[in-house]
Amino acid sequence: MQKVAFITGVNGQDGSYLAELLLEKDYEVYGLLRRSSSPLHSNWRLDQIKTGRERLHLRYGDVTDGVSLRQQIEEIQPDEVYNLAAQSDVGISFGVAEQTAEVTGLGALRVLEAIRAAAPQAKFYQASSSEMFGLSAPPQNEDTRFHPRSPYGCAKTYAHHVTVNYREAYGIFAASGILFNHESPRRGENFVTRKITKAVAAIAAGWQDELRLGNLEAKRDWGFAGDYAEAMWLMLQQSEPADYVIGTGEAHSVRDFCELAFAEVGLDWQNYVRHDPKLKRPADVDCLVADASKAYQILGWKPQLSFEQLVAEMVRSDQQLLRDYQLNSLDG
Ligand code: GDD
Repeated sequence: MQKVAFITGVNGQDGSYLAELLLEKDYEVYGLLRRSSSPLHSNWRLDQIKTGRERLHLRYGDVTDGVSLRQQIEEIQPDEVYNLAAQSDVGISFGVAEQTAEVTGLGALRVLEAIRAAAPQAKFYQASSSEMFGLSAPPQNEDTRFHPRSPYGCAKTYAHHVTVNYREAYGIFAASGILFNHESPRRGENFVTRKITKAVAAIAAGWQDELRLGNLEAKRDWGFAGDYAEAMWLMLQQSEPADYVIGTGEAHSVRDFCELAFAEVGLDWQNYVRHDPKLKRPADVDCLVADASKAYQILGWKPQLSFEQLVAEMVRSDQQLLRDYQLNSLDG
């Protein structure tokens, strides 16, 4: 029988890859959209989906509005619910700590409550984050102690705990995917990888002279977002709900990312990257490296794209976007 999925945060990077994957698997997909004054622009990622678009249904709602969640879930009666909605920018969370707690933390609780009330048989996926590990030494796995370093990390830690609690207290099939950083050409420009690849394309084209960055020493385990969407889906196909760490097991610094991205266009990063102390966070996470052996064994999941391929793909995509923009400006 055809399956029905409900995705909050459907128009984000992960939401778009997950929707694409589920549509390819013949799901009926419902996505929750926050109303915005520029709806066309906010759906640019979904516009890239080619297969099964007629089975993608967008509904207005909000994870800060429990009534809207309950109404949607009651009406849709999903088999699977993926909670990807979040205020997901770690740096910004220091400035909007309360809103981050509302959306990223309590949002998960509201989705779980809606499931409990209106579709208790639905399987639930919570988008947890390696930011929950924060200061704990790498490599990090499902047993590593949480020590979040930002209001975002604290909110995600709450959401993770409440997911486990609703699994234990109410028997909801609630899985928590503790995903390490995952990037793609659909990444938002506020995150460091996309900020770098966009700048590399602009510098190579002579449109920009320098790139200002904060902490260059931070190390992250960067994978490809498309691969991680597959892991989310696999978690809900298991017979029992559980927590899974998802990552590549390889760490690279922001400096390494710059070096590789600039080298893609034949430039030396040191001639363009400037350190800007204003971009440093009040507290940062030094090093995240996944030990994803549980996911490798139980889910049979493995990342497909290498770090080098990911960087090259993101640079190529930003160069293409710039060329398209130039062509459109000429046409206009
Ligand atoms: N955003 C940003 N901008 N980060 C910078 C900059 C800059 O100009 N300069 C240095 N950095 C450093 C940050 O201080 C951080 O140590 C590292 O680059 C990565 O920053 P982000 O790309 O913003 O990602 P993040 O690791 O903080 O969080 C991302 O990954 C999490 C999973 O671990 C986000 O996608 C989170 O939503 C996600 O949960």
